[in-house]
Order: sequence, then structure tokens, then C-alpha cells
Amino acid sequence: MPDNLPSLSSAIRDALLTGDPRAKAMATRKLVRDWRLGRLAFVFDCDMPDEPARPDRPELLPPNQMPKRRKGGSERGRIALWHAVAHIEFVAIDLALDMAGRFGESMGEAFVDDFLSVAADEAMHFALIDRKLHAMGSHYGALPAHAGLWQAAQDTRHDVAARLAVVPMVLEARGLDVTPAMLERVRSQGDENGARILERILDDEIRHVRFGTKHFDELCRARDENPQESWRNLVERHFGGRLKPPFNDSAREAAGLSREYRTGIV
Ligand SMILES: [Fe+2]
Ligand SMILES: [Fe+2]
Repeated sequence: MPDNLPSLSSAIRDALLTGDPRAKAMATRKLVRDWRLGRLAFVFDCDMPDEPARPDRPELLPPNQMPKRRKGGSERGRIALWHAVAHIEFVAIDLALDMAGRFGESMGEAFVDDFLSVAADEAMHFALIDRKLHAMGSHYGALPAHAGLWQAAQDTRHDVAARLAVVPMVLEARGLDVTPAMLERVRSQGDENGARILERILDDEIRHVRFGTKHFDELCRARDENPQESWRNLVERHFGGRLKPPFNDSAREAAGLSREYRTGIV
């Protein structure tokens, strides 16, 4: 490999430090393409930032100060719903980049391949929803958003097992549980385009959770630990909350999350 190639870690760091939402999504897709084409060296010569760059808007509010969303199908309600999803996808880009950039050196190239493909998916999800918000006469940043989403990354930045246990295996798995009901609601409101976006996201998220489960299981096997038991301990220590039903059992099974991955936590 020629040694004049830029390092993977500096490319990931640059994308994390891009604040403008569309520019971050584009930088992420470009870096993943560059990685696949062999234009970046598997070299980790810089640290990941503790906080990725964010745009000035949306204003980030603690969860208890977020305006209540009404369930009805009013245009304002629909915009609020898609705005909330856009924010989750935006932060998911940073979560996937940080996973690859922070833990890639110790976890290896297959791990980097997997989580960079997650980052590219999240950038695509964000772009699809951003386009939808524009079509509805709004945009990402028009409403306040939830401040807590990066917290899980902060709390688990020193331990890849904790990061895998909490981010893909709890938070993204939660997405598998709640998306079907949202999909049904969107479809019943006659928004077929929205329903198709959510179907695509649900499909991709199964793969994201599966990557988390796969690397977590491998890590536990290498450490001679029982995966379900370690997962339970890590979730108790770093997540705290209980997992709430309903559970999307078929999607969870497809993602390698057997029922044992919630016994004792529900
Ligand atoms: Fe996503
Ligand atoms: Fe995801």
C-alpha cells in the first residue's frame, strides 16, 4: 500500500468535525467510497473528537423540555415526526463514524468495513428524510431536537464492548421495535413515499443491529465471556433504563438478538 495515502482516522475525524448536516452526509458517503476503493490507509494516527461538530440549528433540548407531539395527522404533526427521525439519523451518522474511528484499530478491518457501511446507510437515511422535510416545506433544524442522543457514545467511549451493547444492541434495536407501528400510521395517512422510506430504514437497521451483535459475540468469545451475561452487565451499568415492550421479535431474531438478550432487563 503506498504510504502517501491519507489515513482512515483523519478522514473519519474530518467527517465528524463537519457541522453542516448535508456536508456531513456527503463527506461520510465520500469517505466510505474512498475506503472501499483503497484510497485510505488503515492507519489510526489521530484521536476522535469527544463531541462531533453540530449545526447551530436544531436547538438541542433535554428530553423533558421537548414540545409534546400530538398523534394526529396534521401537517405540523407530520413535520414534527419526520424532523425527529431526521435528528436520529443525523446523530446515527456520527455514532457509526465514531465506532469505526475510535475502535477500528483494535477491532480490525472487517469491523471498519461493517461500521463504515452503517455510516453510509445513515447518511443516506438522513438525505432521504431531509429531502422529504423540504418537500413538506420544512427542513432539518426548523424545530428543536432531543439533546440526549450522543450521551450513550460519551458514556461508552472507553470500551468497545459497552459501546456495542448499548448503541446497536439497545438503541438501534429499539428502532426495530417502534418502526412497524410508525410505518403503519404513515401508510394509513396515505403517505406511501414516507412508508417506503421507513421500510428501507427498517431493512437497513436489521443489518446494523446484526453487525453489533456479531462483533459483540466475537469479542465475548475471544475474552472467554458469556455474551448474554456480559451484555446484561454492560447494559445495566451504561444504559440504566429498562427495555420496554413491544418487541419486534422477528426483526430481532433476524438481527441475531435472541430473547436471552433481554431476560433480566425487561
Ligand atoms: Fe438509520
Ligand atoms: Fe442504524
